[in-house]
Amino acid sequence: MSKKSSLYTIISIFFIAAMILSGCAQATPTTAPQETTAPEVTQPPAAKLSVGVVLPTKDEPRWIQDETRFNDAFTAAGYDVQILFSQGDSAKEKANVESLISSGVQVIIICPQDATAAAAAADEAHAAGIKVISYDRLIRDTASVDYYVTFDSIQVGKLQGQYLVDHATGTGNPLYLYAGAATDNNAFLFFQGAWEVLQPKVVDGTFVIKNSSQAVALQDKATLTRDEMSNIIGQITTDWKFDVAKNLAEANLTAATAADKGDVFILAPNDGTARSIADVFAADKDVTSYVITGQDAEEPSIQYIIDGKQTMTVLKDVRTLVSDAIAAAIAYLQGSTPPETTTYNNGVVDVPAKPSAVIAVDQSNVVAAVIDSGYWPAGDFTGLVGGAVPTQPPPAAPVTVEWWHISTQDPGLSLWQTMADEYMVAHPNVTINITVLENEAFKTKLTTVMQGGTPPDIFQSWGGGVMNDQANAGLLLDISSYLDADGGAWRNSFGQGALAVYALEGENYGVPWDMGMVGWWYNKDIFTQAGITQVPTTWDEFLADVSTLKAAGVTPISLGEKDTWTGMHIWSYLATRLCGQEGFLAAANRTGAFTDDCFVEAGQKLQELIALDPFQPGFLGANHDEMQGYFGNGKAAMELSGQWAPSVESAQAADGVGVVNLGFFSFPSIAGGAGKATDAMGGGNGFALGKDASPEAVDFVMYLTAPEQQARMAAAGMGIPVVKGGETGLTDPNMLLVQQTLAKAEYFQLYYDQYMPSAMGSIINEAVAGLYAGTSTPDQVAQAIETGAQQVFGK
Ligand code: BGC
Repeated sequence: MSKKSSLYTIISIFFIAAMILSGCAQATPTTAPQETTAPEVTQPPAAKLSVGVVLPTKDEPRWIQDETRFNDAFTAAGYDVQILFSQGDSAKEKANVESLISSGVQVIIICPQDATAAAAAADEAHAAGIKVISYDRLIRDTASVDYYVTFDSIQVGKLQGQYLVDHATGTGNPLYLYAGAATDNNAFLFFQGAWEVLQPKVVDGTFVIKNSSQAVALQDKATLTRDEMSNIIGQITTDWKFDVAKNLAEANLTAATAADKGDVFILAPNDGTARSIADVFAADKDVTSYVITGQDAEEPSIQYIIDGKQTMTVLKDVRTLVSDAIAAAIAYLQGSTPPETTTYNNGVVDVPAKPSAVIAVDQSNVVAAVIDSGYWPAGDFTGLVGGAVPTQPPPAAPVTVEWWHISTQDPGLSLWQTMADEYMVAHPNVTINITVLENEAFKTKLTTVMQGGTPPDIFQSWGGGVMNDQANAGLLLDISSYLDADGGAWRNSFGQGALAVYALEGENYGVPWDMGMVGWWYNKDIFTQAGITQVPTTWDEFLADVSTLKAAGVTPISLGEKDTWTGMHIWSYLATRLCGQEGFLAAANRTGAFTDDCFVEAGQKLQELIALDPFQPGFLGANHDEMQGYFGNGKAAMELSGQWAPSVESAQAADGVGVVNLGFFSFPSIAGGAGKATDAMGGGNGFALGKDASPEAVDFVMYLTAPEQQARMAAAGMGIPVVKGGETGLTDPNMLLVQQTLAKAEYFQLYYDQYMPSAMGSIINEAVAGLYAGTSTPDQVAQAIETGAQQVFGK
């Protein structure tokens, strides 16, 4: 340090004090040293009244605050002050003290970095005849401390503990304890104060300590020795460092089970560590709410309090501490002693001290205590409305949504998960629990939970009669009011035909996410190799092509008749072509019968096909996925399937790609049939909502069916969108073909097994299965369905 600059570390305390105490901040002292005119001094003027300040670190806003307040006080008096920082290093602290000694100060104000390590520096200062004022933190284990200006640190801890107590209800509340640096005497005082208040509440069961075995071991002791506190602090110390606090909180939450979380209470020792710890707890999905303490009223923490991210702080008005320190220095410089209101034992002597009052601050008083008091300016904060903290909406209560879907393969499997994950990030209080089930397993499991009256919140549905049965049994939630909210915004986003599939008597119990149709998917390469140049448009052409394919040594059709609905689709399409809309509705509405000629004829047409032996070996024992895999592996020329076929056959194919030259054609027409060639049969996929589904579950379904998600779903090839705007994602030519073919249908028939009441679905599927197995005649099939219908409908 140059001689000239050393001058600026010398503070004319009398003058400064006079200016501060008189409040005459504007006056310019005539004796103030001016840099340009300051005389060169070879020795510090011993007679001059001077003081130096040493603070622990610039890395914490708390000490920048103190620097600012010291600067403000000195500047108000017209003086520069050089305040030295030790940057967390006791050696640097000692060097700072030594430089102040050599500059001739008479009083040194030290806030020690390490309470015990600072003793040596204090001893040196004392030996040089300098008075040592311990500032905020007590220098320990030396007699060389003359005075201690501090806040009431035990009271700080008590306020923190009391705040947690006042905000806890019931018993078993998880309590996480954190402490300051073990090298800081204050850390012990804070902890001592907090323990005094919290310990009885641990004993009575209000709190359960979650992150310190030492604290648990001592939880029956109302008063702890310093060694006992050391043991606990050793486990929960933040070392006053943000990163240490963060890492410790993360480690604690990793070790804790979900049951150790929920609504938690956190004793955080100061603001800097509180922010770090709060961020970690806020990010844990099992933490539903937290109450966290702090101290120092640091600006970033005041913002956190306004924002509801930190619960409280303790305001220690540093302006008071600074003026107390200056007043004490003046007293020494005047040859008197500063006022003593108490003593603190530092391990060697009882140090005379003056503790200052502290106050707890949370959202309810932050404006009065921190802003109106002039401690921080309102303009430094955001989120204050009309000079007050606006009432925060209560944190959203945690909600779990159970979702069952049947997309067991990618792209659906991953995309649904991604969408759920994204939703959870945007709605931290919502947990979406996904259960993925294979189609048949889903139907079985759903039946079981429906019988138990506990449907999942959201589940796969095909709408129609099956859904109607569930709704009639009171097992579904009527979501019409959600569809109609905001002028029907959600309702109007859907294609109305698709939405109607999920309505019973005008009330919706679900919504579609995909709508398509069943048709013949074919392998263009195989067709070409067999010499078939055009897709068949009539049943006769179709049978001829089957024969051609057989003759070429190819399996014409892949089928998975273990899942009987796959083969039922061929029969029901034939019935659609032969009976037309009127014929089917007559039978379904019981003005006609399933024994009407057209249904018998459908069986006969199917028998013609079966007689050609068109299916792969073992088709009776193959399930739907295996059917898709056989086709996807290029082993069969065709399969009758819906819009999901391209994604499922490729997922099931050994190479994960499936049929490269894939085509689609409509079910052939039948000469003389009552139905038109454009009539389409099929359906789509939707979400039904269980009777106890929460508004969050409905909101999640709204999210899943929003145009952006629909476009993603379409782009992934999962299905055909049902919401306006979703079609932007639909680029696959085959899917576009399905969509366009569907658009031409004047009569659209939902799959028979979903359209009819659930009991009818299995009756139809099982009856038709008899044809494939060769155990029933077309007449018997028609009769079995009719008998079943009479039982189900009672007519
Ligand atoms: C002070 C606190 C501060 C902590 C970390 C303690 O000694 O009293 O105000 O937050 O040190 O620097």
